Amino acid sequence: MIPWEELDRSEVSGHEGEITLRKRDTEFSIRIAGKELMNSRRHGSEDALAELTCRRIKRKSGLRILIGGLGMGYTLAAALENSEPNTRITVSELIPAVVRWNREYLGHLAGMPLDDSRVSVEEEDVGETIRKRKFIWDAILLDVDNGPDGLARKANDRLYGRAGLRASFSALRPGGILAVWSSGSDEAFTRRLKQCGFQTETITVRARKSGKGGRHIIWLAGKP
Ligand SMILES: C[S@@+](CC[C@H](N)C(=O)[O-])C[C@H]1O[C@@H](n2cnc3c(N)ncnc32)[C@H](O)[C@@H]1O
Repeated sequence: MIPWEELDRSEVSGHEGEITLRKRDTEFSIRIAGKELMNSRRHGSEDALAELTCRRIKRKSGLRILIGGLGMGYTLAAALENSEPNTRITVSELIPAVVRWNREYLGHLAGMPLDDSRVSVEEEDVGETIRKRKFIWDAILLDVDNGPDGLARKANDRLYGRAGLRASFSALRPGGILAVWSSGSDEAFTRRLKQCGFQTETITVRARKSGKGGRHIIWLAGKP
């Protein structure tokens, strides 16, 4: 078995424990406080998050899409692949080291998505990006944690609670979509989405492109 090699590590502000980037042969892993946040071998559901959303957006030209967070850039790459040349995509990433790692070590995994001129990066909490502007996004794609039941960062609960969902609702244009990735289902979250005015659909997707691997959940919540 090829041993893991640590490429870099960084402190995470407001978080106990560090974030690390490791490599084993062609496989990369990002871990935070000892738990895996993202692995380059499994990105079927991260791709699906963008593919399913882009297919459902009714407006076709001049779209604005917000993605939180960057991870290894697979969701971003899938959004670019399914978007027109005049779409603009903003990525909000909380941890500056993750953005740097994508430029230095990880970019090739998803076809160098940060080099695409349609992309801009905000190094901040996606909750802040959402609250800054109203009626602006055609889609907000959230893959910042394990899901509405967040484990990696307690503060991310705010995104999935009523106040966070209302902020996303206000930030979306009419007909816009809030898409949320999760490692498991959550009936209470579906109810909260409805209470905040969204029309929701829940889709089960496999972790790997091959249709194998664990089952993940994607909520597609539309603003009427
Ligand atoms: C599981 S990874 C995302 C994987 C990504 N979908 C991909 O295709 O590789 C989660 C990312 O969200 C970032 N993150 C966590 N909380 C965040 C927040 N509140 N705002 C912005 N980014 C956040 C993490 O640093 C990490 O880069």
